[in-house]
Amino acid sequence: MTDLDGKVAVVTGAGAGIGRASALCLARAGAAVIANDIDADAADQTAEAIRAAGGRADAHSGDVTEPGLADALVGRAVERFGSLSIFHANAGGARPEPMDSMTEAAYREVMALNFDAVWSGTQAALRTMLSGGGGAIVVTSSGAGVSAEPGLAAYGAAKAAVISLVRNLAVEYAAQGIRANAVVPGPIETVQMRAWLDSLPDRGAEFGARVPAGRLGRPEEIAEAVLFLASDAASFVNGAALPVDGGVVARLASPTAG
Ligand SMILES: NC(=O)c1ccc[n+]([C@@H]2O[C@H](COP(=O)([O-])OP(=O)(O)OC[C@H]3O[C@@H](n4cnc5c(N)ncnc54)[C@H](O)[C@@H]3O)[C@@H](O)[C@H]2O)c1
Repeated sequence: MTDLDGKVAVVTGAGAGIGRASALCLARAGAAVIANDIDADAADQTAEAIRAAGGRADAHSGDVTEPGLADALVGRAVERFGSLSIFHANAGGARPEPMDSMTEAAYREVMALNFDAVWSGTQAALRTMLSGGGGAIVVTSSGAGVSAEPGLAAYGAAKAAVISLVRNLAVEYAAQGIRANAVVPGPIETVQMRAWLDSLPDRGAEFGARVPAGRLGRPEEIAEAVLFLASDAASFVNGAALPVDGGVVARLASPTAG
């Protein structure tokens, strides 16, 4: 049911972390992949790794917040591999900062990357999928979109907004064969997460131990959830926000919490 033979996938932010693991995972399942990243070398490396493993992939270098990028990216999938069946809107990132000191420009930047680009990418994908008979959209949200963390007001609001977006897509386009779901990662050991933890020397090191699972997650563990949501194994899953977080958002703050 997770066989993606004949499918074509686009993954944004595919040069590192979760996006890279997702691109590799979807390709291993048989999909041809367009690996987008703002870092051209990183996008190339992901595409090259897929090809070296016998898969089909093309790199796409570009900033998802650039106007017109979404149409060009989706257009590349159709031009290179003939269709678009899976769109994983994954590029994103936090800029932890208290709300009272956040500038308008910094706020706009966070929203542009974590919401506006997801909107425009998803809209471009949706239009192509509607004319192609359907498809699966997967958005990378965050535990910060369902629970709160000081310094993440803008990021959290954007990550909550993408959950609302997939619910709306599910309701509006299910009849046309479109499914849209969000994966909701907890703390995952990526460059971005490591940089944040290292900026908190007194608390960062012990963070993994406070996750109910006792450790941080791996990008590959998010990728497996993306594969599920993108595949026919999830044929009746639509509008869901799937936590993949070792139990983080399930845990009540309590005297027994680590
Ligand atoms: N790592 C975590 O713990 C965690 C937790 C929850 C949610 N997330 C979300 O998962 C997604 C991936 O995060 P990650 O931890 O794998 O990050 P990462 O920093 O490891 O990788 C992000 C990739 O996206 C690329 N990128 C950044 N801005 C871009 C842009 N404007 N256009 C195109 N590409 C761009 C980067 O070059 C990089 O290759 C993000 O949406 C993030 O918010 C991560």
